[in-house]
Amino acid sequence: MATKEPLIIRDKTQMTKWSRTMRSQSKLIALVPTMGYLHQGHLSLITEAHKHANVVAVSIYVNPGQFSPNEDLSTYPSDFQGDIQKLMSVPGGVDVVFNPKNLYDYGDSDSGEGGDGDGGVGVVSCIEKSGLGHESWVRVEKLEKGLCGKSRPIFFRGVATIVTKLFNIVEPDFAFFGKKDYQQWRLIQRMVRDLDFSIKVIGCEITRENDGLAMSSRNVHLSPEEREKALSINKSLSKAKSAVEDGQVQCEKLRNLVIQCITEAGGTIDYAEIVDQHSLEKVELIKGPVVFCVAALFGKVRLIDNMEINL
Ligand code: PAF
Repeated sequence: MATKEPLIIRDKTQMTKWSRTMRSQSKLIALVPTMGYLHQGHLSLITEAHKHANVVAVSIYVNPGQFSPNEDLSTYPSDFQGDIQKLMSVPGGVDVVFNPKNLYDYGDSDSGEGGDGDGGVGVVSCIEKSGLGHESWVRVEKLEKGLCGKSRPIFFRGVATIVTKLFNIVEPDFAFFGKKDYQQWRLIQRMVRDLDFSIKVIGCEITRENDGLAMSSRNVHLSPEEREKALSINKSLSKAKSAVEDGQVQCEKLRNLVIQCITEAGGTIDYAEIVDQHSLEKVELIKGPVVFCVAALFGKVRLIDNMEINL
C-alpha cells in the first residue's frame, strides 16, 4: 500500500530550513544518503531509520566527486520517478527527498538550485563554468587507502566530502549506511568521531537477492550469464566463513579459496582481503572479529561484497 508522497526539496537552504523546523518541534531527524536507483537494500535502511527517528530524509544525488574520469558516472543508472514510487511503498514512507542538482557550489546561477532529477553536472563542468575549482576536501587518511581505495584513489575523498556536505545541510541526528559498502561505513563512522559531528552513524546489514547476490544499483548492468557467475562471490565468502568456523584461521588459505572460486566462475578479482573490522588493516591469522572483503569484475561490472566473521 502506497504511503504519503514525500516533499521534494532541491535547494540546500530550503533543506536546512526544513530540518530546523523539525528540530524546533523536537523531532529527531534521520538521513539516508543515496545515489538513487533505489533497491530493497536502500528501502531496508529507511525501515531502520524509522526505528530511530521521527522524520526521515533521503538524499538522491549522484556525486560526481567520487567518480574518476574513467569510471561509470555517465552510465550510472537513474530513475527518479521510480525511486519516489519505491519510497512511497515503504511503511511510513519518507518525509523528504533532498535532490540537489549540484552540490559542488561555486555561487554561479546553475549551482545547487532547481534540479530536475537528472543526476546533476560533474565537478569538471562546474570548474569550467566558474573558472574556480572546488578545492576543499575531507579525507580520512588511513581508512581511504586500502581495499577499494587502491583501484579508486579519489573515491573516498569524494564520499567523505559529499557526506560532510549532506550532514551540514540536513543536520540529521542519525545517518544510515549499508554494510555492503563496508569501507565507506567505517570511514564515515571514523570521520564523524574525528570531526565531532553530533550524528549517530548506523550500519545496516547487507540485503541479498534470494540467490545470495548482494543488492546493488549496478546489478542492472549484469547480463544473465554474468549475474549467474557473480553468485560465486557470496558462495565463496560463505565457504570461507564455514572453513573458519571449522578451524581454518590462515588468511592466505582462505583468500586462495575465494580467489579460485571467483576466477573459475569467470570473474576478475580486484581484491580479496581479510581485514580487521575497525582499522581495516590486513590480518594474517584470524584471532578475533574480521571482515572478508571482495571486489571483482564480471564483464565491465565491478561488484563488491563482504562477510563479517566474528570468532
Ligand atoms: O553509497 C552511496 O550511495 C554513496 O557513496 C553516498 C554515501 C550516497 C555518497 O555519495
